[in-house]
Amino acid sequence: MRRTEIAAILKESRPGTEVTVMGWVRAFRSNRFIALNDGSCFDTIQVVVDFERFDEEFLKKINFHACISATGKLVESQGAGQSVEIVADKIELLGECNPEEYALQPKRMTMEYLREKAHFRIRTNTFSSVFRIRHAVAFAVHKYFNDNGYYYIHTPIVTGSDAEGAGEMFRVTTLDVGNPPRTENGAINWKEDFFGKSTNLTVSGQLQGEIAALALGKIYTFGPTFRAEKSFTPRHLAEFWMIEPEVAFFDIHDNMDLAGDFVKFLINHILDNYLPDLEFLDDRIKQAEKNMKQEERRPMGLIDMLRFVVENDFERITYTEAIRILQNSKPYKKGNFQFPVEWGKDLQSEHERYLVEKHFQKPVIVRDYPKAIKAFYMRENDGTEPGKETVAAMDVLFPYIGEVIGGSQREERHSKLIERIHEQGIPEEDLWWYIELRKFGGCPHSGFGLGFERMVQFITGMGNIRDVIPFPRAAGSAEF
Ligand code: 4AD
Ligand code: MG
Repeated sequence: MRRTEIAAILKESRPGTEVTVMGWVRAFRSNRFIALNDGSCFDTIQVVVDFERFDEEFLKKINFHACISATGKLVESQGAGQSVEIVADKIELLGECNPEEYALQPKRMTMEYLREKAHFRIRTNTFSSVFRIRHAVAFAVHKYFNDNGYYYIHTPIVTGSDAEGAGEMFRVTTLDVGNPPRTENGAINWKEDFFGKSTNLTVSGQLQGEIAALALGKIYTFGPTFRAEKSFTPRHLAEFWMIEPEVAFFDIHDNMDLAGDFVKFLINHILDNYLPDLEFLDDRIKQAEKNMKQEERRPMGLIDMLRFVVENDFERITYTEAIRILQNSKPYKKGNFQFPVEWGKDLQSEHERYLVEKHFQKPVIVRDYPKAIKAFYMRENDGTEPGKETVAAMDVLFPYIGEVIGGSQREERHSKLIERIHEQGIPEEDLWWYIELRKFGGCPHSGFGLGFERMVQFITGMGNIRDVIPFPRAAGSAEF
């Protein structure tokens, strides 16, 4: 089928030529003006219909989200806004869309409702903008790393290890769950499972990424990761995508430099190439905030916020400084934090948001967390007081989102790593290959993981992470 994409028409706009466009009807006003969108860009093109030349019954079928093909001459547009429009010679109905039965309507629908209609929601302005941007962020990830000499490594999705040591894994098995084979002492005999051992979906590609970094120098992964955590928050998914660079000869400070440079590049790429989508999303937030109290509104519009983030350095503080700031804060003194603020306890989302949104009012990188609350692979800092041991871990915290990046310098010292693995009760034999990397040709190295959906959430301003992935997977929900 020959057609011209609307993006191409609006870019070149040569009045006088005949074109065929195909797409979904966004509106049909006065039996005369069809706003048609084909997904190639944010804008619609106007198809002008001389209703006397078309059958009345036929025109009745040009409903919201019906799919049509329209052929006609491009002419300069009379109305404001668009440069050209199409005067229709021929219109074909490719797919009817009966408004009596169709799930969507040309009016405001709630995000919750649209989530249940994930097979149609991509046709709305909001979701088509979000998913165009999601694509573009993914493209920018590859562009950034490729242009900076990093190699893309595909790490496995099925693994036998728990990279985070947090036990939040989905098991992968072909055993009969109702009647699994047993060992002599009655335990499930995983040796009889498909892979000859117990396996799960990966929670992170980091450990395999380290293998590659200790050979290729600079690598990154970009793949799906899975966490069986029952977090019903607007920032957690059970299936999400993560980008994990891993770099040989990088310490924690190099790692923080990379994190800042990388996320700024991603945001700039969208500001430079997807402004109409961003403007729409920015406006959408402003409309929604009209009914909110002043203190609930964002201090800045979406685009202003994105510009602010790329133009300013991220604040860098240690965990110990963060605790001190929080303990001196108004909400702490008034008892308004729900969770305790105490050296040794993990920072909760309310604490992170206070630091970023209230105290510094810009992205913050917190580093040097207590060893006891962090993963086994993080490098223990030298020269800490007994009982106050820290690791060279870093989290990048963003407004509204909280943690977008978690990373660390890795423990490259063989004996220290073994010690941590034992302390955390992790079976050494699961990680034999990871441990050997410290024995044979090891070196200092660092890396981090960027939560792809959280980044897309920040750039699009969407309130819920389930609305930036086409088919969200979360506890209790795996439709589509
Ligand atoms: O902080 P996390 O758990 O770090 C790691 O997995 C490391 N192995 C990364 C590394 O050093 N290579 O996860 C990294 C990021 C978080 O900062 C967050 O943005 C995102 O992944 N993330 C989630 N995003 C959506 N839903 C979830 N359940 C997430 N859990 C983590
Ligand atoms: Mg983390």
